[in-house]
Amino acid sequence: MQPKDYLSARALENLSREVNWRDLRKTLSKPYDSVTRPDGRINLGLAESTLMHQELATHIKANFEIDLAAHLTYGSGPNGSPLLLQALSRFINRRFGPVIPVTGDELIISSGLAAAIDCLTWNICDEGDGILVPQPFYAGFITDIELRSRARVLPVSYRRKGRPYHLLDAFDPEITHQALQDALEKYDRSGVKIRAVLISNPHNPLGRCHSTRTLQEIARFCQLHEMHLISDEIYANSTFRNPSCLDAEPFRSLLSIDLASLIHPERVHVLYGMSKDFCANGLRLGAVHTRNAALREAMATLNIFSWPAYVTQDMWARILLDEPFIEKFIGLNQDRLANCYTTFTSFLDKYEIPYLPGGNAGFFIWTRLIREPATRTPEAAHKSVLSLKEELLGACLSNGLFIRDGAKYFDEAPEGGWFRITFTVDEHILEVATTRLLKSLRETGLLCES
Ligand SMILES: Cc1ncc(COP(=O)(O)O)c(C=O)c1O
Repeated sequence: MQPKDYLSARALENLSREVNWRDLRKTLSKPYDSVTRPDGRINLGLAESTLMHQELATHIKANFEIDLAAHLTYGSGPNGSPLLLQALSRFINRRFGPVIPVTGDELIISSGLAAAIDCLTWNICDEGDGILVPQPFYAGFITDIELRSRARVLPVSYRRKGRPYHLLDAFDPEITHQALQDALEKYDRSGVKIRAVLISNPHNPLGRCHSTRTLQEIARFCQLHEMHLISDEIYANSTFRNPSCLDAEPFRSLLSIDLASLIHPERVHVLYGMSKDFCANGLRLGAVHTRNAALREAMATLNIFSWPAYVTQDMWARILLDEPFIEKFIGLNQDRLANCYTTFTSFLDKYEIPYLPGGNAGFFIWTRLIREPATRTPEAAHKSVLSLKEELLGACLSNGLFIRDGAKYFDEAPEGGWFRITFTVDEHILEVATTRLLKSLRETGLLCES
């Protein structure tokens, strides 16, 4: 017998998949540091932001101490620390503008949103059931929905015969409705039971926000077809002013839209977390807001396996309760996001590299690094987009830069050549990163300068 023969069929199936972290561990093993490791790798592939690390660390150090009774016992169990439930509901009521104020007992605290999505999926889907996710979408949804619950992500395509494809269709209410309807019919024919629609708002990877009309349209669709509506709002406060697009759609939480006539409140679930808006991916804190009491109970039962330490829950709580600090923190973060966005898009503009303009949220820019053959060297002009992508990703890695292939996000633009590039690192690192990107583009014949 081989060691693998001792594993379950589920485990073997997961081992056969391309699982993010197996490859990422190696890719990220020698991170760049301008002093200690200048030849290390710069990570513009993951959605991480270091922009507010210092401020966050300073606040935690100054304001946090271990509370023996609350932190070293089981506390109040897996639902969440009472302090965090109170602090987070207050924060949501202040910053998300909910139509009906949110209360602490409507929240479930999880160790990161990945765990929250896994737990939510497990509780609304049986094995083989599906969740509709409009394309392109955050790659981690596949992991979160499929690895343990064994439900299925059902990509919702925006490509139609006879109509040119446009990335911004993902934000159009009528086109989105039609895309969902077509997907429903397609997956229905294959016999999958569809349980929910999952969106990210602000959008990962496109870095824009959904309009109220689009959200209403999706809600109407979910109610009509008896589905849950899950809105992942992990970038809710990571929005910023884009001077070249002053009329960009502002972020509106699903909680702030009166959906009473459109969908049952028990079907609507909003996800939030600490990873992005607080620049703290490593603290592993997430939250689900739902007015579905049965679902909350069911999630709390399962949360026994993945509730986060009360120490970290209360770190977040103390930050959230310090309202003057948090308002300043978010404002400063948004200014820094805007600066980094401008720096990176100025670089792209200078080299005429196309990207989806009008971004005002998130940590990344959707960038087309492989353009038409006429923009490449004669040698590269003959190559396929697929082989150029592989060459470019390889060149970037050997030049100490990690970026992400758009295909990972179920990109369906017919021309191909798109990548998601994170811009939320300190300006001096961004400068080194753009130098490395240019070098990689030149080496692969993708930058033909006269
Ligand atoms: C849209 C979206 N949802 C969820 C996550 C996962 O967040 P967490 O670090 O809380 O697991 C990410 C992380 O990139 C994300 O971009």
